[in-house]
Amino acid sequence: MDQQVYIFDTTLRDGEQVPGCKLNTKEKLDLALKLEALGVDIIEAGFPISSPGDFESVSQIAKHIKHATVCGLSRAVQKDIEVAAEALRFAKRPRIHTGIGTSDFHIKAKFNTSREEILKRAVQSVTWARNFTDDVEFYAEDAGRTDNEYLAQVIEAVIKAGATVVNIPDTTGYCLPSQYGDKIAFLKNHVPNIDKAVISCHCHNDLGLATANSIAGAIAGARQIECTINGLGERAGNTSLEEVVMVMRQHKHLGLYTNINTKMLNPMSREVAETMRVPVQVNKAIVGANAFSHSSGIHQDGFLKDATTYEIINPEDVGAEGSRIVLTARSGRSALAHRFQKIGYSFNRNDIDVLYEKFLQVADKKKEVEEEDLHQLAKGYVPEPATV
Ligand code: KIV
Ligand code: ZN
Repeated sequence: MDQQVYIFDTTLRDGEQVPGCKLNTKEKLDLALKLEALGVDIIEAGFPISSPGDFESVSQIAKHIKHATVCGLSRAVQKDIEVAAEALRFAKRPRIHTGIGTSDFHIKAKFNTSREEILKRAVQSVTWARNFTDDVEFYAEDAGRTDNEYLAQVIEAVIKAGATVVNIPDTTGYCLPSQYGDKIAFLKNHVPNIDKAVISCHCHNDLGLATANSIAGAIAGARQIECTINGLGERAGNTSLEEVVMVMRQHKHLGLYTNINTKMLNPMSREVAETMRVPVQVNKAIVGANAFSHSSGIHQDGFLKDATTYEIINPEDVGAEGSRIVLTARSGRSALAHRFQKIGYSFNRNDIDVLYEKFLQVADKKKEVEEEDLHQLAKGYVPEPATV
């Protein structure tokens, strides 16, 4: 039987940490309602202790979200956890997300302490959080660079203390997919009580591997992926929601599915890009302006014969406007004929041969040949009189 991978959206927390992306309460609430409609299972609404504004945003989201779990972030600090619990007071399904750095980089450079002390603080934080809710997620920050044996000890201890979800962040985006997948498999095989918690992937994109790492984690047994719309997040960003969802949908043999309504992916991407004022790169998978554009003659010819030659996703399935045949100096005759036809001209093969030479002259001068250029070409074209 296929298994569900829970989608934990952190656009409003890790995504909002992007410089210039800060949202006010109304913007956050509007996006949270849209994320719920998209089908995300968990909304990480913010970091309540970080500012009064974020506390208010998390409280409003907690009050208005009906089905999704609403999650608030905290450090492994008692006051943080109490404030997160207070912000989540009215949530139908509240989750406290608490944790601490577990790699030696963090233990030495950030906390100047020992592995034993970090283990104690980790357990303590989960115990505090469990006083407020049965749904407690623990994050082992920088798990990507944490020694697996030690990580397994921490994870076993926090599950014993009551953590129901264990987050294994590749905080610095360092891991290779094989390393990250092996890490999740190691925890599955070496943590005796691992079946009492959901394993979560939280991958950053510093080496462009966040999506690949999250999928490797899910293949190895993780059942929650933390991600953001358009891959927004600290530095090079987080795992992109639209990418992991579509990887699982397009590769059915993985036996993994999500609750996401994929037809809403493109509208949601636009909404986030506008609200957070970060345009989507044109070549972004699934939601970039060029994700369904074909511009070279070879591709256009194949695509026009059968879309599946060059498209693995039907644009309608992800709410995109449709495939586009873009006319450039690299385009061929079939694309030109197709575009003429679309705007009402039906030229025969000979006409197209002549028009194509004129088209190339225009195309060499411009980056893209527009509809208006085609009208000009068509108006200026006088067909050769037929020879007897
Ligand atoms: O990247 C990270 O480790 C985080 C944690 C706070 C979950 O964002
Ligand atoms: Zn993060």
